Amino acid sequence: MSDSAFRVLEILERADAPLSGETISDQLGITRSAVWKNINELRLMGYDITSSQKQGYRLSRASTKLLPHEVHKNLKTVFIGRKMRYLDNTPSTNATGRQMVAEGNAEKLHGTVIIAEQQTGGVGRMGRAWVSPSGGIWTTIILKPNVPIDHIFMITMAGSLAVARAIRKEFDLGALIKWPNDIFIGNKKVAGLLLELSAEADTVHYCLLGIGIDANVPLENFTPELQKAITSISAELGHEIDRSAFLARILKEFESRYLLLESGEYDTIVQEWKSLSCTLESRVQIRTLKNSFEGEAIDIDEYGALIIKKDNGKIERVIAGDCCHQ
Ligand code: BTN
Repeated sequence: MSDSAFRVLEILERADAPLSGETISDQLGITRSAVWKNINELRLMGYDITSSQKQGYRLSRASTKLLPHEVHKNLKTVFIGRKMRYLDNTPSTNATGRQMVAEGNAEKLHGTVIIAEQQTGGVGRMGRAWVSPSGGIWTTIILKPNVPIDHIFMITMAGSLAVARAIRKEFDLGALIKWPNDIFIGNKKVAGLLLELSAEADTVHYCLLGIGIDANVPLENFTPELQKAITSISAELGHEIDRSAFLARILKEFESRYLLLESGEYDTIVQEWKSLSCTLESRVQIRTLKNSFEGEAIDIDEYGALIIKKDNGKIERVIAGDCCHQ
């Protein structure tokens, strides 16, 4: 959004009655035709602005796009999401994050949130495609974490907790976490997280925490095969949600847990994760790059690894892999 369109928006948001083009142009010291151009830009950004010759312009509805300005209205964080980048369309917000770090400085970008209305090449775990139509929340948080590398995967745990907790608090839906980082409502997946890491020896250069949530996505947008396995928040509630307020809540929930990790309070995260897990005490099938086996998920350790008791009594520790509940 251009600076001048943003200033017009602020004036319209503050007004409690319609404003003429002349009033706005006088307040901003710009021409009436510039006001008109800005109004059109705002309309393209999804703001519903009515205009009548007699009365002038009135903001009748805020944009339903996931715009930084709308998220910021509800954002209560100290550093996560204070800087945002919005894209109408991008292959993948993680790829955008990678590019931003390559062109910039990870320390300065720490906490930056990238939001896309749609992704054309969304990526899930194990390199799978991630279908990302408009209506979802497709976002990546850039971090230059002050967390030791052996605990770095706990950032995903903090992210999963943030999403599950936000769904529970905002919508009273019983979201649970399936190891390692899927959010389920009932037996259907509603969100997934993906942590990308750039590291060398024991130095973490940066992390990209990608979060994908089927928020206001009609299930018809997915193939019949996918529809068996996934749900969306709007499908569960029977109405659309305010994605901006919801994302602001997720970022706040994430920030508080991320800060716990920075201060080494790993056990607090592990205990909360256990309380929201649908994997623990379940019979599971695990597939890693090396092998595949079955057993009972009996615990999770302070590094985020799943502890499995195999049928022969042997204990296995799995740090990365696919987990199927049986
Ligand atoms: C999973 O497989 O469950 C993880 C899915 C992660 C999807 C998100 S959407 C935003 C970010 N950009 C991507 O391309 N992927 C992640």
